[in-house]
Amino acid sequence: MPRIVFVNGSFVPYEDAKIPIMDRGFLFADGIYEVSAVLNGTLVDHEAHFARLDRSLGEIRIPNPYDTAEWTRLCQELVRRNGLAEGLVYMQVTRGVAERDFAFPQGATPTVVMFTQPKNIARSPQAETGVAVVTVPDLRWKRRDIKSVSLLPQVLAKQAAAEAGVAEAWMVEDGFVTEGSSSTAFIITADRRIVTRPLSHAVLTGITRQSVMRLAAEQGLALDERLFSVEEALAASEAFLTSASMLVMPVVAIDGRLVGNGKPGPRSRRLRELYLQMAGAPAAAA
Ligand code: PDD
Repeated sequence: MPRIVFVNGSFVPYEDAKIPIMDRGFLFADGIYEVSAVLNGTLVDHEAHFARLDRSLGEIRIPNPYDTAEWTRLCQELVRRNGLAEGLVYMQVTRGVAERDFAFPQGATPTVVMFTQPKNIARSPQAETGVAVVTVPDLRWKRRDIKSVSLLPQVLAKQAAAEAGVAEAWMVEDGFVTEGSSSTAFIITADRRIVTRPLSHAVLTGITRQSVMRLAAEQGLALDERLFSVEEALAASEAFLTSASMLVMPVVAIDGRLVGNGKPGPRSRRLRELYLQMAGAPAAAA
């Protein structure tokens, strides 16, 4: 099946998609993005993703080209045209095309791009073994709540992870874990409390985080939104991360040292199952 992408209102073959070099996303990273999971051909948590997209745009004063109903329709159409059963939809909006000049251009039209990526996210073999992470300094700017396409610190963090042979890097600031390079970080303490950093400008408002916290609360699990250090994470009984691309993923080692017994913990596994059920994943995968 040929790959179809969405560019500025049209569905086109990937080979034919073109963005001018003066696009401000390309020159200034002047844009934002979203990534949403697709399971069973259905978008997961899409309304929350479109709400965050709208907020990111508002924070950098780019008008949102579509309302939620239209975004949903366009995403579903893209998923259908690509025959995507399981994977990701990527959406990006930039301030548009204009002669290079830092301040906002007058009258530029936002550029909108979307594409899909097939990926085994429910039946991920990594979920069986859990993943290891390394820690890196958090080199990012001070508005990490905006899902900016300016991702160089995360590229460097993920490369450090790749060079260490692990799946993710946890970024650390002032001794405390902020979040993963593309995921939210959680630990579960010996007294069974689930801990994640509170929302602020220091972290992205994870959509999977939000759903997992709701599921945990429904199960009567204790939740603390507070800072935690790498030392505390190493002493925790479980750790996990959440994102649209990894859903709920147990973390079994940090900087080469095991978390708990080095195997996915029961609560992390349970939260993954609950999330898969909520997202309508095929029963065999849950
Ligand atoms: N990343 N924190 C950061 C820095 C992220 O980039 C992401 C998502 C998350 C998790 O957010 P969510 O649960 O809404 O996916 C947290 C996406 C998947 C990406 O950049 O590919």
